[in-house]
Amino acid sequence: MAKLTFHGHASFSLSDENHTLVFDPFITGNPKATITSDQLEADYILLTHGHVDHIADAFPIAQRCDATIIGSYELAKYFEKQGASVHDMGIGGGFDFPFGRVKLTHATHSSAFVSDDGTIQYLGNPCGIIVQFDGKTFYNTGDTGLFGDMALIGRREQPDVVILPIGDNYTMGVDDAVEAVAMIGAKTVIPVHFNTFPIIEQDSSEFVEKVGELAHCIIMAPGESVQL
Ligand code: NI
Ligand code: MN
Repeated sequence: MAKLTFHGHASFSLSDENHTLVFDPFITGNPKATITSDQLEADYILLTHGHVDHIADAFPIAQRCDATIIGSYELAKYFEKQGASVHDMGIGGGFDFPFGRVKLTHATHSSAFVSDDGTIQYLGNPCGIIVQFDGKTFYNTGDTGLFGDMALIGRREQPDVVILPIGDNYTMGVDDAVEAVAMIGAKTVIPVHFNTFPIIEQDSSEFVEKVGELAHCIIMAPGESVQL
């Protein structure tokens, strides 16, 4: 069984006996984090897009753990230039890694790094990530609005578990996320990207209620793990 550990916001780890994957590490600056960046172990770091609340700790963890960063071409090159090991991919493409297959999907969002001085660095297209890991298919939609091709992704990839945002303002809110669950068709859903900051406060029980019989919802507290 795969173990999924939530780190708060949209950051989580997936691990089995052999591999640990970290998605969108955001520990430094994350008011909900229960660990420090140097407590996070990784063999691979998978990034959906280049916003700071998804990449904040990617480079230091990659350096310390000698982990490979997986992401879109531009995002991977950004970290390669800093000295990290990377594997760049494009939307619609898949690759068989030692831990399983990864495929990038479309997401409706943006992807850039905004420096303190206001400089905006384009970091490629935002992505969702499909991972086949330990016998299950996980679909991390990344930050995204609702889009109709989620039904196509659901039909093609048949994900067992979907991880999606419900925080509103920057991404889908509760009602659109419920529609996404219906379109994707996964039996297990983990909502993320809410309650980290006041602007994305949501009542997760409203989400659970509205998902109803569509899927089993797992509401995770930061630091909590679940076996899937
Ligand atoms: Ni974002
Ligand atoms: Mn975000």
